[in-house]
Amino acid sequence: MKTSAEFDVILWNKYLSSGSKDIKLRYEHSLAVKKKALELIDTFNFKLDKEKTAIAAVLHDYAKYETKERYREIVKRYELDIALLDENPKVHHSLLGPFVIKEELGLEDEEILAAIATHTLGSLKMSLLGEVIFLADFTEDGRIGPEFEAAKRLSRIDFYGAILEKIKSKLRIYPDELSLKLYQKYQEVKWKS
Ligand SMILES: [Fe+2]
Ligand SMILES: [Fe+2]
Repeated sequence: MKTSAEFDVILWNKYLSSGSKDIKLRYEHSLAVKKKALELIDTFNFKLDKEKTAIAAVLHDYAKYETKERYREIVKRYELDIALLDENPKVHHSLLGPFVIKEELGLEDEEILAAIATHTLGSLKMSLLGEVIFLADFTEDGRIGPEFEAAKRLSRIDFYGAILEKIKSKLRIYPDELSLKLYQKYQEVKWKS
């Protein structure tokens, strides 16, 4: 597998080829998620492979600029649930990103791909790596604003408390069933930890 530094360059070139205007911010966000994910490992002393975590973080928004047609093509080719396309477009890069990454980069590590797939909505089956990427995406240094404050503060002292804050902020906007279940699950996880 390539190194995370090599994936930094690959990501930048991928974003450049999209012709989109906000790629610099998006790229900086990806690097900041990497930094934050590695900080979470150190803060909570997690036994996670740092290089693998760095790769998942750098690539988590790899598919941010795919076209609707590309997503449609992927749903068709892999016989995925067509209802995926009705989801909020903001989640497509997350749910369908792993397929784009596999096709374009040949990256096959299932744990990395699963962490990328769940970074936006979360999942009841997230691995620790998935949880780290889920939280790092929300608490990296560039996330500024009242909705991030509680999660950012807790991300230095209470990992699952911070995860609950991310879920809470999602619930405030749109209380969907998955977020409600996630909230219950992580309340239990927090009590037990
Ligand atoms: Fe994302
Ligand atoms: Fe992100």
